Amino acid sequence: MPISLKGKVAIVTGAGRGLGREEALLLAKHGAKVIVNDMGGSHDGKGEFHGPADDVVNEIKKMGGEAAPNYESVTSFQGAKRIIDQAISTFGKLDILVNNAGILRDKMIFNMEEEEFDAVIAVHLKGTFNCTRHACNYWRAQSKEGKPVAGRIINTTSDAGLLYNPGQSNYGAAKAGITAFTLIVAKEMVKYGVTANVIVPVARTRLTTEATPSLAPMMGTKEDFEKKYGYDVLSPEAMAPLVVYLASDEAKDVTGQVIRVVGGNMWLLHSWKSSEPVKRSPPGFWKPEEIGPKLKELIAKQPPREELAGIIMSVLS
Ligand SMILES: NC(=O)c1ccc[n+]([C@@H]2O[C@H](COP(=O)([O-])OP(=O)(O)OC[C@H]3O[C@@H](n4cnc5c(N)ncnc54)[C@H](O)[C@@H]3O)[C@@H](O)[C@H]2O)c1
Repeated sequence: MPISLKGKVAIVTGAGRGLGREEALLLAKHGAKVIVNDMGGSHDGKGEFHGPADDVVNEIKKMGGEAAPNYESVTSFQGAKRIIDQAISTFGKLDILVNNAGILRDKMIFNMEEEEFDAVIAVHLKGTFNCTRHACNYWRAQSKEGKPVAGRIINTTSDAGLLYNPGQSNYGAAKAGITAFTLIVAKEMVKYGVTANVIVPVARTRLTTEATPSLAPMMGTKEDFEKKYGYDVLSPEAMAPLVVYLASDEAKDVTGQVIRVVGGNMWLLHSWKSSEPVKRSPPGFWKPEEIGPKLKELIAKQPPREELAGIIMSVLS
């Protein structure tokens, strides 16, 4: 049975391009009314342009759907409130929030300027907080008034933060932060009928081609991939079906999960896991000189860490 989002209202931030665009289009195709947020700047977050949000709204309207543009920056707490308020005033309510807006300012830590750190944290971590906070405040009030709530928060993280990609300490910290933030919000909002999940994309967009030169060669081209794999494995379209599913009533029991989709591959990512404990004998505090040998035993036993390049190669091999 195809999933229907008829009667639901969604916000997708950064929906003018890349992954967000595909997510907004597929949500609309499945019947959701969509606020298409995008401030339209360059991949490093500079400038503003209404074109990308307007184009996606026009595409949705052309296929018979309902959508409205919003050009706020998610970095503003009050701006984020206006995005949430616009969904309610335009379409009567809010059911689905997809936090997707993103920028990059990659640098090695010794070269990173304060502004490059702050700008990336502001869009990703603070932006996700801003929109989530106002949406949760709205859903909690609805629930307290006895109205039915089926809220959905879908936040966007990255292997850059989960697998620690060099050159992206600002972005990785923001994305790891979003993951922890979402899993905490999932626990806080469960009693109000709201789920919160994290999606992990790897796709060919301007962030992986123009803004990350080290990844660009692996991203290939649509034409080459269609020839080699029978479909475009790294297309940004691949993530949108997961967003539609998580947004739906069918996914009401799926919360606090971290899910990666690349092409037709899907993984569940597990969070930090403690090793078996090493207990000091006799019982008491460790002496500094006792720690080294025991710690090295634990390090030797830990499973190898995954790398972002390894994930991409596993899909493309
Ligand atoms: N492409 C990938 O492989 C990949 C991998 C992991 C995570 N992500 C994440 O997916 C999300 C989408 O990235 P993409 O690759 O589609 O990039 P993209 O550059 O194509 O799209 C991002 C959109 O966000 C908008 N945006 C930026 N700052 C904004 C702000 N302050 N307020 C509102 N809109 C803003 C941009 O104008 C742009 O249209 C990002 O959060 C990114 O970090 C992407």
